[in-house]
Amino acid sequence: MDPIRVGIIGFGRSGCGIHANAIAHIPEQFTVTAICDLLPERRSHEKFPLAKACASAEEVISDPGVELVVVASYNCTHAVLAEKALLAGKHVLCEKPFGYTTADVDAMIAASKKAGRILQPFQQRRFEEDFQKVREICRSGILGDLTYIRISWPGFARRWDWQTSRRYGGGQLYNNGPHLIDHAMELFENREPERVTARFRNALSSGDAEDEFDVLLQAAGAPDVEIMISATCAFPQDRWLVCGKAGTLRGSGQKLEWKYVDWSRHEKRPLDLHPLEGRRYCSEKLDWQTGVWEAAQNTDAGAGAAPAPKPVLKLYDSLYRAVRLGEPQLITPEQVRKRIAVMEQCYRQNDIPFPRESRS
Ligand SMILES: NC(=O)c1ccc[n+]([C@@H]2O[C@H](COP(=O)([O-])OP(=O)(O)OC[C@H]3O[C@@H](n4cnc5c(N)ncnc54)[C@H](O)[C@@H]3O)[C@@H](O)[C@H]2O)c1
Repeated sequence: MDPIRVGIIGFGRSGCGIHANAIAHIPEQFTVTAICDLLPERRSHEKFPLAKACASAEEVISDPGVELVVVASYNCTHAVLAEKALLAGKHVLCEKPFGYTTADVDAMIAASKKAGRILQPFQQRRFEEDFQKVREICRSGILGDLTYIRISWPGFARRWDWQTSRRYGGGQLYNNGPHLIDHAMELFENREPERVTARFRNALSSGDAEDEFDVLLQAAGAPDVEIMISATCAFPQDRWLVCGKAGTLRGSGQKLEWKYVDWSRHEKRPLDLHPLEGRRYCSEKLDWQTGVWEAAQNTDAGAGAAPAPKPVLKLYDSLYRAVRLGEPQLITPEQVRKRIAVMEQCYRQNDIPFPRESRS
């Protein structure tokens, strides 16, 4: 057994709650050997009593007992710490956001290439079952050419922590946005959007960053993809709505349903400019086919909820295979760079400055 020795920087909801807790389930693949937080009381974990307690990120990055650095500190620190750790010869698992700008990502990728170390973006929600099912149905073609996709994360909640402060790199687009933008770009089949339109609002947040946004991605030959996160929508909405020329899919993390028609089994309808007989409206009976998918267990972890563990373990497994077995990464920095390019455009078109630590 040769588990990868992990040093975690930032030991809060993510560093402790997501990463260390996940690693505790896969001792044959990973173990935590160093824990760092600005707060002294956050430098330990009961499952890893031998882990070194570190007061600074530099201590973790320079520790020869650490092979992989998990960057789970404030958003504004990600790119800088990831680059430093790579140049110090560590593999890096970087929480979202994967930097703020493409310049941030490019510097991380360059450091990873120079050092010959793996740089892994932490986009675990790519492995969520409902998303995987939505993508499978979209790609199957049963809904026909897709016209419009809406991904919604509604909620009605106040927030008052650092994630609401621009100084720390907060704001919903860089907080939960990376997950939705990742899903959207996958459904966009990774094309570069020709037009990105973003609107931001600060409704209930105590800080100066947005807690609501909607983003529209458009390109010729691709469906319009709209993404929204709301802090003032108290009624549940479908997370997924996918419209196509042959059918529609809707649903949530628990349940998806879709219905579609086979147009070749319907009467042809050429343009007829004569007023319809009997003053009728256009109406016809459609021969619907239907499908349903239900999650085996409750996996829905929307905005504000702790993420489900299964996708986290899947990402860790793929990272282990990349580091120890040389297998290709399932989620690459180059893919995630395209998402950061979209997010960068959203902030630039709204004249929102990037945090100081960013390269732009
Ligand atoms: N992938 C996901 O689903 C997911 C979920 C939650 C959080 N996150 C990400 O994890 C990161 C942390 O968020 P959180 O919710 O855990 O916040 P948190 O406030 O719970 O914890 C952050 C911790 O990092 C420490 N910290 C900050 N800067 C540091 C530094 N330079 N050196 C050492 N420690 C430092 C803080 O003291 C704090 O304890 C964020 O980037 C967030 O976007 C990702």
